[in-house]
Amino acid sequence: MLRVKNLRKSYFMSEGAVPAVQGISFDIDEGVFLTLLGPSGCGKTTTLRCVAGLETPDSGEIYIGNEPVFLDGKGILVPPFRRGVGMVFQSYAIWPHMTVFENVAFPLVHGGFKAPKAQVKERVRKALELVGLAAQENRPAPFLSGGQQQRVSLARALVYEPKLLLLDEPLSNLDAKLREEMRLELRELVKRLKISTLYVTHDQEEALVLSDQIAVMSEGHILQKGSPREIYLDPRHPFVANFVGNANFIEGFVEPGKNGHPDFVVGTALGQMSCRLSSEIAKGERVSLVFRPEDVVIHTTAQSSRVNTFPGIIERLIFLGNRIYCEIRSGAFLLHGETNARTEIQQGANVFVEIPADYVRVLRAQ
Ligand SMILES: Nc1ncnc2c1ncn2[C@@H]1O[C@H](COP(=O)(O)OP(=O)(O)OP(=O)(O)O)[C@@H](O)[C@H]1O
Ligand SMILES: [Mg+2]
Repeated sequence: MLRVKNLRKSYFMSEGAVPAVQGISFDIDEGVFLTLLGPSGCGKTTTLRCVAGLETPDSGEIYIGNEPVFLDGKGILVPPFRRGVGMVFQSYAIWPHMTVFENVAFPLVHGGFKAPKAQVKERVRKALELVGLAAQENRPAPFLSGGQQQRVSLARALVYEPKLLLLDEPLSNLDAKLREEMRLELRELVKRLKISTLYVTHDQEEALVLSDQIAVMSEGHILQKGSPREIYLDPRHPFVANFVGNANFIEGFVEPGKNGHPDFVVGTALGQMSCRLSSEIAKGERVSLVFRPEDVVIHTTAQSSRVNTFPGIIERLIFLGNRIYCEIRSGAFLLHGETNARTEIQQGANVFVEIPADYVRVLRAQ
């Protein structure tokens, strides 16, 4: 449905060129929900605007359906209103002097998607029904809650039945509770309508909840693309591990194992650690071990028979209701761990931290 190849876009300013998007490629198959996830300034909005036709890329190729809408060097640049995409901006961009109905009807009456007058009413009503605002159609736009305004802008993007929906942080202005509700509604709606969706957010939880596929971006590049499960459980890059969820990082070198360890282990300042080494990683190589706080097991008694178990002291302990978050000092390291909320454990306690070998990801050090 959407194919982006080697997309590049810089902005030129008095202080020089800002390389916003530096050669990214991704595809969205029909009906798939893909999220661009990354920190502020990494190029998400720029990518979305290039797809919508609101920015002209420096180079690359963009296809919507099978039609090229931008091909550098071939002079192909389809204007926004011919691309058949619906877009919701972070700011909603709804018109305060119009009613809900007039806002949603706007693209059909004034925009590039003009429809016969007889159809307008029916299509606007249908779009408003989809977002649950049929009863409010005559209300002036300012007399709506944030969540309702957000729905108006969604209805306006859906009213001409786009093949592709582009959403730029559409939930960021809502309070936490409403945001969570709208997330689920939004996903259900686009799945029901079988619309392919390109979504932008810097909120990792939102990306995990909504997406079929996540592309993690940093400084104009896509570092990893995969399902939420792959991105979270198998990060291939330290940035991805750190940006999506929390992670512990320990550097070390691959060395021969001893004392009952497997053939090769990773020597770290914490001690030797067993982990699964992929065939790409060679002996002697410098690596970064990555593991999640929730995979760390905190024992209150010594565990002589278990590998990857290190003594430590609970330096900080935060009760979070559904679990306890701990910072554990072990030698020079401060490890992040979690334990069951009912565990009897105090700050200053001597503990033994176990890092299960299967849950340690071994990444080449950067
Ligand atoms: N119109 C512009 N003129 C100059 N530089 C721009 C312009 N728009 C964006 N940039 C720069 O391009 C880079 C990427 O910006 P972009 O808006 O795509 O980031 P983003 O990932 O959407 O960030 P955010 O999460 O803050 O919205 C940034 O360094 C930004 O300062
Ligand atoms: Mg942005």
